[in-house]
Amino acid sequence: MQRVLVLNGPNLNLLGTRRPEIYGTTSLAELDERCRAWGAAAGFAVDCFQSNHEGELLDRMHAARAEAAGIVLNAGALTHTSYALHDAIEAVEIPTVEVHISNVKAREEWRRRSLVAPACVASIYGRGLGGYRWALEHLAARLAAPPQDLAYGADPDQHGALRLPAGPGPHPVAVLLHGGFWRDPWQRDLMDPVAAALTARGYATWNAEYRRVGAGGGWPATLVDAAAAVDHVACLAADHPLDLGRVVLVGHSAGGQLALWVAGRDRAPAAETAVTPAGVVALAPVADLVAAFEAGLGDGAAEDFLRRTPADGPDRYAAASPAARLPLGSRQVLVHGTADELVPLDHSRRYVAAATAAGDPVSLIEVPDAGHFDVIDPRSKVFAAVSAAVDDVTPAP
Ligand code: DQA
Repeated sequence: MQRVLVLNGPNLNLLGTRRPEIYGTTSLAELDERCRAWGAAAGFAVDCFQSNHEGELLDRMHAARAEAAGIVLNAGALTHTSYALHDAIEAVEIPTVEVHISNVKAREEWRRRSLVAPACVASIYGRGLGGYRWALEHLAARLAAPPQDLAYGADPDQHGALRLPAGPGPHPVAVLLHGGFWRDPWQRDLMDPVAAALTARGYATWNAEYRRVGAGGGWPATLVDAAAAVDHVACLAADHPLDLGRVVLVGHSAGGQLALWVAGRDRAPAAETAVTPAGVVALAPVADLVAAFEAGLGDGAAEDFLRRTPADGPDRYAAASPAARLPLGSRQVLVHGTADELVPLDHSRRYVAAATAAGDPVSLIEVPDAGHFDVIDPRSKVFAAVSAAVDDVTPAP
């Protein structure tokens, strides 16, 4: 079994009692316990180490060189001051994921700068202790199916991970758009397990990031990026054996809204550089932004995304909500768990009824007892339905 080192820096020994309103009430010992369990689920044996001393952290990283396939690092305040940690990450050449419990991008100015980030393969922040789990999953997906991290634009958030399956191709392509209610701390690592699983199944996967609310996104940048990320597949096809006739958009939650929206966006008839997807697989999508607003999904997420309520002006809702743009003219398969508490199943039922009435080829797979995140977990029993839906939308010629 591969080993992963979970490394915590200064003051994290005080977890549970230190500023609980920011860091929670769970102790470091309990966090270590959880990391070992999360690691085991992802296929890792996890070693945990904490120190308040920079030199001890460096020594532990150097020792990991012989044994660890990955490192999860919460360097605490050393994140913002330590070039030595940056250099150690580079020197040991072990893929390292930076983690912060709090949203360091939304606190004091000095916390926004991370000296270790440029040496890390991913930076996860603002997701509480769960960030450690996502970091372990990111490492597992990265080791199982190594990605190429590529930019599709000049903004630091316009990038994606390309994974190619074995064989000469041309490969069908799954473009992945992650969820998180369009908000900053949620990034494309959410879709890494799906990306690795679909690549193992024979798909080239392009797991795209986009600008998010709280980090330069929201109306209209998030939509512009989603479309640009999809169209970038045409550029990727210039260098890789991709089948542009078999492109499926796979979006989860808010990413489901983006995927459906891109599939239905208006396009100039002869836009040869625009990628026309064969269809969309929307996993627990936010398919109706007015309904999302009315139900208060994600604590006002639709309003934060569009910077409007429907009463302030319906135009942005009409422009961005898949339900307002029917028919999309594209094949759509929705997969939704009956136990989803973040985006209730009813939203998909109503959307599919409306899309069917509008003449779209659309179907809904209801998965008994599945929650919001089960549909993006390749280890859940639900996932067979997800991969079957992806295959269905991209039939082999
Ligand atoms: C932290 C954020 C740092 O800015 C801070 O100095 C910490 C904890 C976090 O986990 O949110 O000690 O890394």
